[in-house]
Amino acid sequence: MKLSHAYGALIIAWFAVLGCIQAVTLEVKEGNSTCIKAELSASFSINYNTSNSTRTAQVPLPDSAAVDTSSSSCGTDGSLPWLVAVFGSGHALGLSFSTNGSLYSVANLTLQYNLSDSSVFPEANSSDVVTVVLASVGIWAPINTTYRCVSPATFRVGEATVTFSDMRLEAYMPENDLSPTESVCMADKGSTAAPPTTASTTTTAAPAPTPPGTPERGNYSISNGNGTVCLLAQMGLQLNFSYFSVSQNKTIQEIINLTPNLTSSSGSCEASSATLVLTQEQATRLSFTFTLNSTTNKYHLSGMNLRANWSDMTAPFSVGNTSLDYLRSTLGRSYMCNAEQTLVVAQTFSLNTFRLQVQPFGVTTNQFATAEECQMDQDQMLIPIIVGAALAGLVLIVLIAYLIGRKRSHAGYQTI
Ligand SMILES: *[C@@H]1O[C@H](CO)[C@@H](O)[C@H](O)[C@H]1NC(C)=O
Ligand SMILES: *[C@@H]1O[C@H](CO)[C@@H](O)[C@H](O)[C@H]1NC(C)=O
Ligand SMILES: *[C@@H]1O[C@H](CO)[C@@H](O)[C@H](O)[C@H]1NC(C)=O
Ligand SMILES: *[C@@H]1O[C@H](CO)[C@@H](O)[C@H](O)[C@H]1NC(C)=O
Ligand SMILES: *[C@@H]1O[C@H](CO)[C@@H](O)[C@H](O)[C@H]1NC(C)=O
Ligand SMILES: *[C@@H]1O[C@H](CO)[C@@H](O)[C@H](O)[C@H]1NC(C)=O
Ligand SMILES: *[C@@H]1O[C@H](CO)[C@@H](O)[C@H](O)[C@H]1NC(C)=O
Ligand SMILES: *[C@@H]1O[C@H](CO)[C@@H](O)[C@H](O)[C@H]1NC(C)=O
Ligand SMILES: *[C@@H]1O[C@H](CO)[C@@H](O)[C@H](O)[C@H]1NC(C)=O
Ligand SMILES: *[C@@H]1O[C@H](CO)[C@@H](O)[C@H](O)[C@H]1NC(C)=O
Ligand SMILES: *[C@@H]1O[C@H](CO)[C@@H](O)[C@H](O)[C@H]1NC(C)=O
Ligand SMILES: *[C@@H]1O[C@H](CO)[C@@H](O)[C@H](O)[C@H]1NC(C)=O
Repeated sequence: MKLSHAYGALIIAWFAVLGCIQAVTLEVKEGNSTCIKAELSASFSINYNTSNSTRTAQVPLPDSAAVDTSSSSCGTDGSLPWLVAVFGSGHALGLSFSTNGSLYSVANLTLQYNLSDSSVFPEANSSDVVTVVLASVGIWAPINTTYRCVSPATFRVGEATVTFSDMRLEAYMPENDLSPTESVCMADKGSTAAPPTTASTTTTAAPAPTPPGTPERGNYSISNGNGTVCLLAQMGLQLNFSYFSVSQNKTIQEIINLTPNLTSSSGSCEASSATLVLTQEQATRLSFTFTLNSTTNKYHLSGMNLRANWSDMTAPFSVGNTSLDYLRSTLGRSYMCNAEQTLVVAQTFSLNTFRLQVQPFGVTTNQFATAEECQMDQDQMLIPIIVGAALAGLVLIVLIAYLIGRKRSHAGYQTI
């Protein structure tokens, strides 16, 4: 019966993997009233050095995470409201909030981790407590509404990436519980039919941008002066941005897919920077800037800009960010992410990518080099492997039961 034990262990391992991302509820209170409440799942992927290599630790926010009442605050003393959750041996996640009276937003995201904790960072060659901060997180909602984002959202903070999912949160709360009115994040609007709701003052819900479905995957490339291909990209792209619409006399949110056969590509390749510009029918122009660090031989997507000039706009719309840190990979490799990713560029613009593979540097034979795959893809690979292993276990049990049964009936014949 050892096999059934092994089978049981597999099932337990399976549930452990599925269950490792837990939802945690965190509340900051002052007296009897709650000012910040968050229900979320979070996981952290943190790079650290051992004496001879660099490793990555995967840390989920455990459900034992608790609000640190000494550093959290409701901001009544003039500081910003701050939610600090502590977990494990000296690790902490902090979210501070600010408001302008009509909107509130996450002002900064802090992650603190303790490299002395050898259960999380085995063989780390440092024992520092590291604190990293990300300003402009792009999480915001109208006051008196709950920010909701079920889709995973990933943020790079120093040497760490923080992924939130199943998130519901509110700051500057009017009641002790989350407001029933939800402000749905862009990623959820693209993938689910949940009605987005805006500020509670408008009872007639703003017309939801109809999610256009998964975009078609385009093939783009850039050649340098002598005709050799120096940048390759394959991806489905969905733009998600808000602008002031003349016809509707208000700011609206638009989600549009880029159509590859209406999109032309141009750009340039230099030694340490490469640019890809995609233009759809003269009116929409999206550019990507990749930067190579020649010391570390790592590259990343460092800048993005969207320009749109539609008839429904009062003026050409332009939004960009030159200090991004997405799609990190190594010179001589390509970067791949089949899962949908949301790249937040600015408060009014984010880009959803689908089935993406890019290589902005070191293209040699008009083909992608070996891919470095994103974490989300790697996580998705695990589940079929475990299900497969569990099924294999089941097949073995049936087979053994059958063989035992056969042996018994043989034995029966011989005694006759
Ligand atoms: C807080 O709640 C407790 C019990 O519900 C009550 O006794 C106490 O007076 C309340 N304090 C304030 C400041 O409202
Ligand atoms: C690892 O060490 C190298 C060399 O000292 C340094 O450049 C790099 O930032 C370190 N990485 C981390 C994750 O601390
Ligand atoms: C840790 O290891 C890295 C190389 O992996 C090295 O560059 C760094 O100096 C080491 N740090 C300490 C504090 O020993
Ligand atoms: C790195 O160091 C550890 C312990 O010091 C050792 O076990 C391991 O083999 C070393 N790895 C390499 C690639 O040198
Ligand atoms: C992040 O927010 C907290 C709380 O408001 C504040 O103490 C801290 O200084 C902020 N960090 C940065 C880098 O702005
Ligand atoms: C960091 O971890 C070590 C080992 O687990 C522990 O002794 C130390 O107190 C922790 N530091 C903090 C600031 O909690
Ligand atoms: C708050 O900021 C938003 C977006 O930046 C702006 O539309 C709104 O008018 C601001 N509200 C106030 C009261 O300043
Ligand atoms: C939020 O709700 C509180 C209490 O219901 C109300 O006093 C306040 O005016 C509301 N604020 C906004 C901006 O709607
Ligand atoms: C094309 O130009 C690049 C630099 O611009 C050079 O590295 C490469 O060798 C050239 N290839 C051919 C076939 O001339
Ligand atoms: C647009 O809306 C504003 C206030 O929401 C209003 O004052 C203005 O008259 C409207 N303009 C048109 C052309 O409808
Ligand atoms: C673009 O592709 C779509 C479907 O793949 C097709 O219906 C459409 O005619 C194409 N348009 C052009 C300009 O080739
Ligand atoms: C390259 O990376 C190293 C280590 O992360 C950093 O110190 C250096 O400033 C980077 N160089 C450029 C040009 O960004």
